[in-house]
Amino acid sequence: MKILFLNGPNLNLLGQREPQIYGRTTLADIEAAVRQRAAKQGVEIEFEQTNLEGELVTWIQKATGKFDVIVLNAAAYTHTSVALRDAIAAVGTPTIEIHLSNVHAREEFRQKSLIAPVCIGQITGFGADSYILALEAAVNINERQKPGAETR
Ligand code: DQA
Repeated sequence: MKILFLNGPNLNLLGQREPQIYGRTTLADIEAAVRQRAAKQGVEIEFEQTNLEGELVTWIQKATGKFDVIVLNAAAYTHTSVALRDAIAAVGTPTIEIHLSNVHAREEFRQKSLIAPVCIGQITGFGADSYILALEAAVNINERQKPGAETR
């Protein structure tokens, strides 16, 4: 099984960026924790970050046939990007939306996600653990999609 973790704008600044909201954990720390857990489960992962909306779109398009699930922290583009939503809907790779902070407990503009309706589900508010929870969810989604698997 292969999972693509995609991270959007400003997530390269984790650790120093608004630590009262996002904590002190860096993106490299999160990647290391995800890699460790994935290795235990025999799951292959790719972990990417970009500040560019179009680059996220391209990665989502190129994931087709190569990755079983996408875990996407689209950061600010969550709330603004029709292009990202269209890309997720177009390719059909199961996608999990994640956030470190609880976007529903923050400013009103963060409470709207343009990508949520085309994602399998949303994991928000668990800090760096949102990534680990998404890994677990992705493995379950993949298991369920195997022929003969029970639907829940
Ligand atoms: C975020 C929440 C977004 O609203 C914000 O723009 C981010 C990070 C999070 O992980 O909590 O950059 O996606």
